Amino acid sequence: MAMKVGVIGSGMMGAGIAQVSAAAGHQVVLTDVALDRAEKGKAGIEKLLARQVAKGTLEEAAAAATLARISPAGDTAGLADADFVIEAATENEGLKQKIFAGLTLAPHALLATNTSSISITMLGASTDRPDRFLGLHFFNPVPVMQLVEIIPGLATSDATRAAARDYIGTLGKTAIVSEDSPSFIVNRVLCPMLNEAIFALGEGVGSVVDIDTGLRLGANHPMGPLTLADFVGLDTLHAIMLVMQKATGDPKYRPAPLLSKYVEAGWFGRKSGRGFYDYSGEAPVPTR
Ligand code: 3HC
Repeated sequence: MAMKVGVIGSGMMGAGIAQVSAAAGHQVVLTDVALDRAEKGKAGIEKLLARQVAKGTLEEAAAAATLARISPAGDTAGLADADFVIEAATENEGLKQKIFAGLTLAPHALLATNTSSISITMLGASTDRPDRFLGLHFFNPVPVMQLVEIIPGLATSDATRAAARDYIGTLGKTAIVSEDSPSFIVNRVLCPMLNEAIFALGEGVGSVVDIDTGLRLGANHPMGPLTLADFVGLDTLHAIMLVMQKATGDPKYRPAPLLSKYVEAGWFGRKSGRGFYDYSGEAPVPTR
């Protein structure tokens, strides 16, 4: 059944969630802190849809209908009658709690967070609806990646879990359920691997190209780990490692020193134009 879906945050993840929700027939309000940001998010979706039309993998009318279902907004007022609201803001506990505190939602509305690592139980407790709150973790690029992790918090009701599973079904994606444990299932395994590749680079074990080629051709990964780290965002990866380290107290999760340095430099990967590759030209150029 078509719903009204609210998406908070129009960056890479929020825009992707808006796109797949609209493509599934849901009405979408895509919000950000300013209207021009939300409009930029929608413009990015328009480009991706146009590319699919040009390739012949999507009908022009379907692309237009998807786009018409997305309404950008500069505040969250338009979420008052939404059925399902998904927060996909920056990976920062305080910021997410501030966003939740500012929301006025319908009593029946479900609220989800796309956090990659923060405790769902703790975030849920800061809302007015811990029983109707859960984690829904999408993967980048959202339109391509088949998986969504469902993470119930301690207070999440069975009805909320079932509704989330139904919604993911409407997107044509596969759901898995993870306990509310730091970084859940996929990032628990994936992010330490990316961090380890950065340790190896920092220790001079191999060059950017050799590390990436090694994992692509030696382990059949679609992208090398340094390319993937740049793609995910080095700031996000760093934040995830810090959450894991803090939550477990286990030093094996400490961010690689080179990762911390890159984040201090503002080299966040693809989105900032520089990470382990330089993205200012036609093709990415390795920097080490
Ligand atoms: N947005 C939307 N669609 C995209 C895209 C993007 N950014 N990048 C590629 N695509 C689409 C292409 O249009 C193409 O579609 P088509 O099959 O309809 O033509 C399809 O994906 C394949 O793309 P390409 O042929 O250009 O390139 P590849 O075959 O190299 O695939 C990839 C690109 C799918 C991104 C692949 O490299 C891949 O799977 N990489 C690993 C991605 C990954 O691991 N993501 C998870 C990151 S972790 C995460 O998100 C969790 C977070 O919490 C940190």
